[in-house]
Amino acid sequence: MKHIISIDDLSKQEIDNILREATYYKSSRKSGYQYAHILNNKLLLTDFYAPSTRTRFSFEAAMSYLGGSVIGSENAVEFSSVSKGENLCDNFRVISGYCDIIVGRFINEGDAKIAADVSLVPVINGGDGSGEHPTQALLDYFTINEYFRESDKITVTFLGDNLRGRTVHSLVKLLIKMNKVERVNFISHPLLYPPEKLLTLLEQYNIKYTNIPKMSSRLLNNTDVLYVTRMQNERGDIHLSNIEVSTYWLNTNNIEMLPLYAIILHPLPRNKEIPPVLDNDPRAKWFEQAWNGLYVRMSILANILEIR
Ligand code: NCD
Repeated sequence: MKHIISIDDLSKQEIDNILREATYYKSSRKSGYQYAHILNNKLLLTDFYAPSTRTRFSFEAAMSYLGGSVIGSENAVEFSSVSKGENLCDNFRVISGYCDIIVGRFINEGDAKIAADVSLVPVINGGDGSGEHPTQALLDYFTINEYFRESDKITVTFLGDNLRGRTVHSLVKLLIKMNKVERVNFISHPLLYPPEKLLTLLEQYNIKYTNIPKMSSRLLNNTDVLYVTRMQNERGDIHLSNIEVSTYWLNTNNIEMLPLYAIILHPLPRNKEIPPVLDNDPRAKWFEQAWNGLYVRMSILANILEIR
């Protein structure tokens, strides 16, 4: 049984397959094709213990487009028996008897693994606290591949909350696994530098990285992909002053430090770190990135349920 709890659960070959089929789903939708209902008779259960827009809706849409059905709880803390004190293991043991696959979002890092260990069906981690968000990384990577050749090795700069941003953690792991990255820069407040274990991983693979506390034209001039995240304030009490936080906001001036061929990604939702005035910049790809989530998740569901 195939769970996707972390990028570590996927081989290079599996990632290539997912991306290739996602390309097919994207191009066939653009040409008006009706998707074959290959997931007919399959049931996806979405069990979200924390808020979500893109992850839940795109998984549910993906399942529906492929002919499958969906049941779920968008607020499992309040609306499932967890509100009566049921623990995560009992909850997953039971609900996994009702469906073919589960996408879950969890409050604490490590909870996705705990749930998968007792589940009767595959579990996909839709984000576990400050841990990982592997399917977001897959759609980020899919978007990157639309702008850079497969053979290109790129420099990626992460701007924002690199400590608690689980999408950052998963994307770094994925870039390493796919041998895609030449150099990684982390621009964040020193209290929000990435977790030590991520830096150790980069060192193990001899990938150069820099941690700096503010934007620098030298680094941004040499950036291919700028990956911006919001402050993940719901996950702990690291409070920065307004002045400190605004150091990590993009604007019409500092964006000019990026090359014209660069792309800017953001997993969304955004706060003030990217003002809407930048939405029309040719390098702005965050909405396209979010829409790509549909095709990548169609491919993930089809691949895990082993239906081609
Ligand atoms: C991200 C998440 O949940 O980690 N959102 C998403 O799934 N697109 C990013 C975030 O919440 O900041």
